[in-house]
Amino acid sequence: MKILLLGANGQVGWELQRSLAPLSLLKACDRQSANLEDFDQLQTTLREFSPDIIVNAAAYTAVDNAESEAQRAHRINAEAVSLIADQAKRLNAWLIHYSTDYVFDGSKSEAYTEADQPNPLSVYGTSKLRGEEAIVKSGCKHLIFRTSWVFAHRGANFAKTMLRLARERDQLKVVSDQIGAPTSAELIADITSLCLYRLTHDNAFAEQAAGIYHLTPSGETSWHGFAKYVISEAQALGMAFQITPEYIEPIATKEYPLPAKRPANSRLDTKKLSDAFGVYLPPWQTHAKRLVTQLATQGI
Ligand SMILES: NC(=O)c1ccc[n+]([C@@H]2O[C@H](COP(=O)([O-])OP(=O)(O)OC[C@H]3O[C@@H](n4cnc5c(N)ncnc54)[C@H](OP(=O)(O)O)[C@@H]3O)[C@@H](O)[C@H]2O)c1
Repeated sequence: MKILLLGANGQVGWELQRSLAPLSLLKACDRQSANLEDFDQLQTTLREFSPDIIVNAAAYTAVDNAESEAQRAHRINAEAVSLIADQAKRLNAWLIHYSTDYVFDGSKSEAYTEADQPNPLSVYGTSKLRGEEAIVKSGCKHLIFRTSWVFAHRGANFAKTMLRLARERDQLKVVSDQIGAPTSAELIADITSLCLYRLTHDNAFAEQAAGIYHLTPSGETSWHGFAKYVISEAQALGMAFQITPEYIEPIATKEYPLPAKRPANSRLDTKKLSDAFGVYLPPWQTHAKRLVTQLATQGI
């Protein structure tokens, strides 16, 4: 069995390099060896390696830049994904792909299930939805994991930015009216491997397992709550800040305008995933605390 990983140097891709390694022979490709904007190179890489499983962690993820780079976002998040899905179908390979809470408009009061109708508010969200649709349309065997608010030790993300800003500034305002679940790239990678193990060792299960699944930890918070949590945990571990958590000011989204609109409710219901694959989704604080401990001991 052979696994091809795309986007190996991203937050999720980096953790997948670790979690997929014990499953099978793994070829990990970065932007140089498999560029999703270079369709010829992408097709050649897929054809030559002929994987049994393709894991696509590559994506155009600059949510605000996408508003002015729509064509590029669509090429990477939709057109390239369509090509990968067609190749997966031809090879009879599984395609594991990642999508986002930003496919929803956030107007629902409860957590979103896989049965809810997407209605993206941004170019990024639309491009990711088109990618999902292309996968389903191709007829390839697939798992699409929609996740939210990804953080990791490697790469740039909100948690690391907050810790840096709290060291540099004595004032910090953070949006408190968007709710979701901060999701660790480690958790995404580990759940991916557990699901793949199940798929590749249980044919009867695999026959009916393809589809879209929501993958986040349990619990919820706001960006403000998340910032307060990581700064308090880091403070408890001895990191020094200009501002203490209780002085971080909650603000409304409209007070911090950005080019791309975000959903107010980003909560994803994960029951389908835990019921189908028998996985446990821990509280978001479990991995957030781990990140803070790593940063406090090894530096941001
Ligand atoms: N980040 C989030 O908050 C979030 C939330 C929900 C869903 N997701 C989804 O989760 C998945 C993983 O995201 P992430 O957080 O790991 O993102 P990330 O850290 O930005 O990583 C994305 C990776 O894609 C690569 N990439 C971008 N354009 C490429 C191209 N043209 N060809 C090949 N590789 C390319 C990047 O390469 P370089 O390293 O060379 O830049 C990077 O390694 C994505 O599908 C994303 O849409 C993310």
